[in-house]
Amino acid sequence: MITTAAISTIREHVKAWRIRGETVAFVPTMGNLHQGHITLVKEAKTRADHVVVSIFVNPMQFGPKEDLDGYPRTLEQDSEKLVAAGAELLFTPTPELIYPKGLAQQTFIEVPHIGDELCGASRPGHFRGVATIVAKLFNIVQPDMALFGRKDFQQLMIIKTMVEDLSMPIEVIGVDTIREASGLAMSSRNGYLTADEKHRAASLKRAIDSVITAVQHGQDHHQAIAQAEQQLKAAGFTPDYFELRSADSLRQASENDNHLVVIAAAYLGKARLIDNVSFSRHPK
Ligand code: PAF
Repeated sequence: MITTAAISTIREHVKAWRIRGETVAFVPTMGNLHQGHITLVKEAKTRADHVVVSIFVNPMQFGPKEDLDGYPRTLEQDSEKLVAAGAELLFTPTPELIYPKGLAQQTFIEVPHIGDELCGASRPGHFRGVATIVAKLFNIVQPDMALFGRKDFQQLMIIKTMVEDLSMPIEVIGVDTIREASGLAMSSRNGYLTADEKHRAASLKRAIDSVITAVQHGQDHHQAIAQAEQQLKAAGFTPDYFELRSADSLRQASENDNHLVVIAAAYLGKARLIDNVSFSRHPK
């Protein structure tokens, strides 16, 4: 695997592959890689001739009180995992290369409405930072396709919307969430949990599943969500949001929506955990 912090090196390799008529898949990450990321790389390898990965802890998507400096940076271990998974090119730019004029002078991309709710409401500016860095990385790598985890459901929808709205010639592929045996969705932020919190964190998926079961049995989802939030509080969580939405538009679910998503964020100890599960109201 070639590791580079230079845009020109990325472009040279991608250009050479393209001349040979070969395809390129891209997996953007912030590093501290876990099985969820590795699944994205392996899936990318089944779909394209070459896989490019980026590791960049993007300051633009962190709020002033968030964990930018404390975000785990584990480049050596990450590189080993990427080599084993079959990535060929790793882009590790510096913040100075990506934002040479500083964040305040940076042109940005904002996907309206969808970026302001749920995680966007709790983390103002977060999705502006995500959309901007993903657009920049897309312009640098120029892949045929890019893969993202469905765990970040709102992020995935924002990136799909951006690509469609700005006519970017890139296929955006969502890959299923990888979970621990307990049901806990894999996330770099699980590293902030103590052993006891990690055990209790599995309640988040159980609470989501309880709402799905209630909705599929025709019960009122408001009541099911209130009960689920109680379960979470009993497990030591402070819920941020817990909602039933349309899985197609992320708008509030209406009675006519069949393709739904239960989407939640909650604080446990030092971690803010997010999770979601999509489902059919009337499974066949
Ligand atoms: O999901 C992430 O790790 C980040 O939000 C992403 C897409 C790499 C952009 O920084």
